[in-house]
Amino acid sequence: MSARPAWTISDYLEVRNGHLNINGADALKLINEYDSPLFVFSEPRIKSNIDRLERAAESVDHPIRFFYASKANSNMAVLKTVLDSGIDVEVNSGGELFKALRIGFQPNQIIFNGTSKSAGELDDAVRAGIYAINVDSIYEIGLVEEAGRRVAAETGVTKPARIALRLVPEIGTRSHLGLQTALLTSKFGISSSEVLDAFRRGLKNPDLIHICGIHIHVGSQTPDVEPFAEAFRSMWEHLVTIHRETGHRLEHINLGGGIPVNYLRDRSQADQLPEHERDMLGADLEPAVVLAEALRVARESARAAGAEHLLEQTTILLEPGRSVIADAGLVLSKVLNMKRRPETGDVWLLTDAGYNIMLSMNNYKWYYHLISASRAGEPHEQDYKVAGPLCDSGDVYFDIEREGRLPDYRKLPRNVQPGEVVALLNCGAYSLAQMFPYNGRPLPAAVMIRADGSADLIRRRDTYEDLIANDVW
Ligand SMILES: Cc1ncc(COP(=O)(O)O)c(C=O)c1O
Repeated sequence: MSARPAWTISDYLEVRNGHLNINGADALKLINEYDSPLFVFSEPRIKSNIDRLERAAESVDHPIRFFYASKANSNMAVLKTVLDSGIDVEVNSGGELFKALRIGFQPNQIIFNGTSKSAGELDDAVRAGIYAINVDSIYEIGLVEEAGRRVAAETGVTKPARIALRLVPEIGTRSHLGLQTALLTSKFGISSSEVLDAFRRGLKNPDLIHICGIHIHVGSQTPDVEPFAEAFRSMWEHLVTIHRETGHRLEHINLGGGIPVNYLRDRSQADQLPEHERDMLGADLEPAVVLAEALRVARESARAAGAEHLLEQTTILLEPGRSVIADAGLVLSKVLNMKRRPETGDVWLLTDAGYNIMLSMNNYKWYYHLISASRAGEPHEQDYKVAGPLCDSGDVYFDIEREGRLPDYRKLPRNVQPGEVVALLNCGAYSLAQMFPYNGRPLPAAVMIRADGSADLIRRRDTYEDLIANDVW
């Protein structure tokens, strides 16, 4: 291995004194201070990911707004960093709405998505007067109206709730099926054939509802630009039709999230993965390209339809999650046990980080690059079977179903022994937010590394008492 392994990122993820170093913080010191397993986030990396989005917005001559998809990670310190960076937020439940408001996002900075919002959640959103509730069906328009009536009765004020319609136009991507959300077989959104009816329904009670936008999320980790462009074209054409048929002018087109993260910055262990998996996980699609292409198709169509004035007045929204937080977070874990299997010749390393803290590694067989944090600069050339601590044969860092979606062996330095600290990289998205205390395992702590290399605890480690805090007996 060269002096600078491919996973390094200048001024962020580096090898110093042989150890993994995060913005100046030594991984082993962090483990000594905060114990293992440990989530480590980088505030400078979150900010530079947001800067990249903002530069993309500046590169196209059009009003753009970003709403961070808080489902990717809604830790309060992460939300604070996003808020301080000046972008807005997307929430997917009453709980995320509560967190967004509590951390200080203004109501007009919040979008609420979701297929099954409860009456209480809709009441909260309407009462707060958020920027947009993205409705997922024609039926849900009626639910928002009912929420509006309830809130009006409670407050004595009737103010139309701002809604956007979420569409499902049948656009496939090269991501996992479970992460594709613009297919007619998915549970999301309103079909193209019903869009006009949905708009007519939404325009019926203007005292209760104001339709401000239209939304499509093609899915997460979308490796190609075409699905984004197709989604944008579809929304744009609906916007023009709606204007023509009803005179109603939409304020925004929301292109959702899905900008991919390159999980294969270091490809040294990825050669066994199927090609489509490598293309998807190793995608490197610039947000500027997504925006430029979306606008190109819309401008073409606007010119043809003589509707340039409509496009000029339409703000474009994006809901990036993964691209803000995935590569800004990692998991440090200790090897606690090892064994040899003479029959297979395998050496097994058993860590304290299971799929209860990285669910995607199990349900999507998601590849997180594994390195030794203790010996980050040494050659990683020896094969190991690596597994977590859960009482489940599926709690392994390879594809137990033998579909090859993860490498069979992980490469680490020679002679790894219990006590060695390993790191799973790019774990910042959909990990902390999805963790659960299976097997009575207290949830881990998380720290945020600041620009000066100092570490702040942003989530305290659960205690055994936390495990029983909500049980009643
Ligand atoms: C509606 C919506 N917006 C945004 C996102 C964020 O996607 P990503 O994290 O891939 O950017 C998601 C997640 O899939 C979503 O469902």
